[in-house]
Amino acid sequence: MQRIVDWPARMKEVADFVGLDQGELDIIESTRELVLSRGEELTAAVYDHFLKFPETRRFFLEEGGEVDETKLDRRKHSLLRWLTGSISFKVDEDYPIRLLATGIVHSHPPSHRAHLGSIPSRFMTGSMSFMQTLLAHLFQEEIEDPIESHRASVAWNKLLMVQLDILQAGYINETPTEATGGPPQAQ
Ligand code: HEM
Repeated sequence: MQRIVDWPARMKEVADFVGLDQGELDIIESTRELVLSRGEELTAAVYDHFLKFPETRRFFLEEGGEVDETKLDRRKHSLLRWLTGSISFKVDEDYPIRLLATGIVHSHPPSHRAHLGSIPSRFMTGSMSFMQTLLAHLFQEEIEDPIESHRASVAWNKLLMVQLDILQAGYINETPTEATGGPPQAQ
């Protein structure tokens, strides 16, 4: 029998596991202005990266094999919206559900791109790593105090991993634990 997943509890569990606490959420909030001021540049860099690899590029092509610039622009906007929303990250009821829905859009292709199949989950992992790297460079360049810059990178790294867990949950089939009251499982 499928188990019901308490998504907020799962997200809290992972946040606790990686040690993402209120102090770090405050650090993330303190980077708001900086991240927003460079948001378009960051999201453009992610998509430039996607276009370099055939396995990710193919999701953004027109039938003739040209890059679909309109679609790409829309995708950059979605990513920027997600990045902006991440600054106000909360372990609450809504956040994990929104992430789950975003994850499902990637894992279960809507009918208009059914022929392309799922976006392979390894590229979700890769994208998060790429974003962590971009943010770490940004903080290193723009935050004068190296300790503060390091703290900002650490906090964002944790935040992105907590989000990745839920984004990928729709991809993952885990073997449920026996009725041990163990951790919530993805189905
Ligand atoms: C961790 C990384 C990623 C995040 C946070 C992210 C975020 C988003 C968001 C917020 C949307 C809009 C969802 C909606 O309309 O409900 C979206 C859509 C989309 N993303 Fe991503 N994305 C990521 C990775 C990727 C990768 C690696 C690819 C492909 C190489 C990709 C391709 C797409 C496509 C094709 C859509 C449109 C889905 C549709 O057909 O409606 N994304 N993404």
